[in-house]
Amino acid sequence: MLKRLFPLALVMVVLTGCQPKSADSPMDQFVTRLMSQMTMEEKLGQLNLPVSGDIVTGVPRESNVAQDIREGKVGGLFNLKGADRIREIQRIAVEESRLGIPLLFGMDVIHGYETIFPLPIAMACSWDLDAITEAAHIAALEAGADGINWTFSPMVDICHDGRWGRISEGSGEDPYLGARIAEAYIRGYQGQDLSADTTILACVKHFALYGAVQAGREYNYVSMDSYRMYNEYFEPYEAAVKAGAGSFMAAFNTINGVPCHGSHWLLTDVLRKQWGYQGFVVGDYCGLEQLQDHGVQTDIVSAAIQSISAGLDMDMVSGGPLVLADAVRDGRISRKIIDTACRRILEAKYRLGLFSDPYRYCDPERRSVILCDEHRATARRIATESMVLLKNDASLLPLAKKGTIALIGPLVEARTNMSGTWSVAAVHDRYKTLAEGLSDALKGTPAKLLIAKGCNLTHSEELEARATMFGKAIRDPRSTETLRQQALTIARQADVIILAMGEGAEMSGECASRVNLDMPDAQHELMAELVKLHKPIVLLHFSGRPTVLNWETEHIPAIVQTWFAGSETGDAVADILFGKVNPSGHLCVQMPRHVGQYPFSYRQFRSSRPNDGGGFGKYSTCYIDELSTPLYPFGYGLSYTSFEYSPVTLSDSTLSSEDTLTASITLTNTGSRLGTEVVQLYICDRVAEGVRPYKELRGFERVSLAAGESKTISFLINRDRLAYYAPSAIEAALPCQPIHRTIDPGIVDIFIGPNAATSNSASLSFQ
Ligand code: NOJ
Repeated sequence: MLKRLFPLALVMVVLTGCQPKSADSPMDQFVTRLMSQMTMEEKLGQLNLPVSGDIVTGVPRESNVAQDIREGKVGGLFNLKGADRIREIQRIAVEESRLGIPLLFGMDVIHGYETIFPLPIAMACSWDLDAITEAAHIAALEAGADGINWTFSPMVDICHDGRWGRISEGSGEDPYLGARIAEAYIRGYQGQDLSADTTILACVKHFALYGAVQAGREYNYVSMDSYRMYNEYFEPYEAAVKAGAGSFMAAFNTINGVPCHGSHWLLTDVLRKQWGYQGFVVGDYCGLEQLQDHGVQTDIVSAAIQSISAGLDMDMVSGGPLVLADAVRDGRISRKIIDTACRRILEAKYRLGLFSDPYRYCDPERRSVILCDEHRATARRIATESMVLLKNDASLLPLAKKGTIALIGPLVEARTNMSGTWSVAAVHDRYKTLAEGLSDALKGTPAKLLIAKGCNLTHSEELEARATMFGKAIRDPRSTETLRQQALTIARQADVIILAMGEGAEMSGECASRVNLDMPDAQHELMAELVKLHKPIVLLHFSGRPTVLNWETEHIPAIVQTWFAGSETGDAVADILFGKVNPSGHLCVQMPRHVGQYPFSYRQFRSSRPNDGGGFGKYSTCYIDELSTPLYPFGYGLSYTSFEYSPVTLSDSTLSSEDTLTASITLTNTGSRLGTEVVQLYICDRVAEGVRPYKELRGFERVSLAAGESKTISFLINRDRLAYYAPSAIEAALPCQPIHRTIDPGIVDIFIGPNAATSNSASLSFQ
């Protein structure tokens, strides 16, 4: 049928991501011809994305999806797992609808499909762009072999607030790092050729500023000046456009008092006119109809008119487009707007090659790649790279494989928790628990592993129930005292105690905001009891967000921030603990001393009343009851070896717009084993038209060195690396024109060091 209706579908063109198309390209001709055969109802149908799957991330909806598909009222479906089921639904679309237009099949493939990689916040701590691309490519291979052609990833929202549960889904607090990581994900998902079997469509979300919800409370208002938007929050979205992202998802929040789902300024002026975006924009779950909850519209028809006129091309779950036919007929929304949105969605299907083979993602022979050994080995390696060694007094780690080891904590056998939040395609029974990973690593050695749960996640059954709503419950019915005694008994026999504590997997993620970021009560109490035994203790800290680790830092000699490291967590933790792998993760978010410091980032703007060192100083920017510095700075991470940085040298002391110079350090591995360091470049533009941060990341490199080895690391410095969006440029910008980044003449400090607290710097004069 496809061939009969669309002979042009057989013309295959290689298109990279979502690059500008040429007028009259084969795709253009194909889509124009197809649209000439479509009724308005069928065009509106392409704008409709109902949820059909097993996995909902909002209130479930009843609908007769199959019938709607036959009637041409559906453009795609999401969160349905299984190539056979997807093939059958695609068959209905292709064979039983009038025009046989294939469907998009989307899914939240956030950090892997069945092979699960670390949470995005953890992956970002690897600072390893190749690894992130590799992980996204594997996710695309696996999801693409199981019917999925569209992932709702990457999430690129910058976040300065650990209270927000969705900080786990992004790449942390820094726009430069976030932008590089956004590009890495898109390369991995979309590759060079979106029509290849091995690639799927990426979806950059959530546009925009969702990570800045007030007080870290989910779905809250966002208030931000345009200077911060352009200089702190937009960079990863803009980088994703340049990287050719095929789709964007609108955010639930508002910008400048207008919900993102209805903001013409955001979805059209900034995204398309300033940045030149060519793909399509999908709404988030019921985001279109929620214009009514925001109080800016009173009915679904007006909500759909506002949203689609603003630049939303596809609605998720609200059903908004389907009610628009009358509004089009009586001119409340123009045909042209609907045509444009429909065209963008058909173009995405064309780019994916769905018109030439609608079943290209449902080939049973390809399923063998899913959770294959090779993918698992990669996930294990990346999991080790994402873990951050926060503390290691007296080189307690790595542990020798001998003596008696007590493994204690509510997470030691919490199999379903290891993959973390947002692992919707996970097959937990095929993953190891932490206890299994460690005991496998100790097989055949003299070491003896004793295991006890010790406590529940928290004393509060109600809190634990809220934090385990999607089945990751691990609550133990035994009494607090029974659990505690069991832990103390094995701890007394042990030479070393390993604690697996922190958050359960669902304590972060969507709608998991928290105001208390201390170690949950039951776990803290047990830890305090165990500390009294005066034995060496290692804390494996599991969380999907930065938390407050003051007490732990004071009392526990070794701390590894493990995050949730995915399907291979058990083995990966063992690799780190016993030294098979030397830790190399560096924080992509700083760790606070107190939750009251939020919102909080190393990227502090210069203040009218500066404070040196973060302590109290009357009439300087500070607190009277806490330091204003982080407990662990952005970029921080230890290794089992040590590194030394030489002073920064510049190849020249002046720079002009046309010039380049190099900033270098020599890095030496001063320890006794191979290690990997993340060398970070920060700048401080001392005087500029707009207030600039004391430090901002503008470069980094992962460097592996053998014991005793030295290497010179150089960064190219040019105007682009230093430039920013000046307030006057933002103010003068017309909606339809790109804004250009500038740099004012003056002194710029160039810092190169192991984290954002470095003072290793040299200065140049920009002329
Ligand atoms: C809501 C979330 O905000 C979004 O990230 C996700 O992709 C959709 N639901 C679909 O599940």
